[in-house]
Amino acid sequence: MQSSGRQVARGSLPAEHISRTFGDYVTTSANGAFDRTPFIAGNWKMNMDHVQGITLLQKLAWTLSDAKHDYSRVEVAVFPPFTDLRGVQTLVQGDDLHIAYGGQDLSQFDSGAYTGDISGQFLNKLGCKYVLVGHSERRTIHNESDEVLNAKVKAAFRHGVVPVLCVGEGLEIRQAGTHVDHTLQQLRAGVAGLTNEQAAELVVAYEPVWAIGTGEVAGPEDAQEMCAAIRAELETLFGADVAAKTRLLYGGSVKGNNAGAILRERDVDGVLVGGASLDPAEFANIVRFESHLVAD
Ligand code: PGA
Repeated sequence: MQSSGRQVARGSLPAEHISRTFGDYVTTSANGAFDRTPFIAGNWKMNMDHVQGITLLQKLAWTLSDAKHDYSRVEVAVFPPFTDLRGVQTLVQGDDLHIAYGGQDLSQFDSGAYTGDISGQFLNKLGCKYVLVGHSERRTIHNESDEVLNAKVKAAFRHGVVPVLCVGEGLEIRQAGTHVDHTLQQLRAGVAGLTNEQAAELVVAYEPVWAIGTGEVAGPEDAQEMCAAIRAELETLFGADVAAKTRLLYGGSVKGNNAGAILRERDVDGVLVGGASLDPAEFANIVRFESHLVAD
């Protein structure tokens, strides 16, 4: 029986595995509990029509159910295309799934003459808990500026949807060594004007653009370096209590075989997964990253 959902793993593991798995498990405090609830998010991008999307979600739910996944210990969310969301809502409600879902973008406006855009109010009405804001593909392909993204973050909160603000540098900036400054600048612009409560609820995803869809993964220490810098910046802006609550994700070529090492880092609270989230077995493996630590 898993009690609080946060301190169960040690007790449920054979004794001989405990030191191997949790002895150097720095994501957790000394007693094996997570500092923040880990968050595993799947960004389907422009893949899966509404029929394919339902099949994918069903397979994911079955796989996690077979594995007796504890959703209160590790939260799971998917980000399907807009046209899938109504079907996803129906499946989640009908089968009482504990998988959260969200949009991949939203408008900074609430309603009106904005052809092709989607209001945060519509996402809320469809039961979306989260929405991605400022994914690098939106920043580059749609030229979304930091000012627009700040307005989108505020629009999400206005409609009761939690924004997942994506930040991260391209290859040239990484090579020039200014990646921390660059990413923190995106962060500051994105969170400008938020209240402390909003900043604590916000999720920030660090996604180095050179690692997205390329097979190049930033090393766990790169992910930790940036997430620690983001948390320190949030502390400067909103105070230590807030910074201790904000969940920080890493994204970029995350797979079942590298998720555990990344999530082991203290300031990395989750992962935003693109390609691997389209394969239910692979994505379920990422969700179950703690079990890979046993096999490491
Ligand atoms: P990837 O995408 O996992 O396919 O690299 C990550 C993302 O763009 O969120």
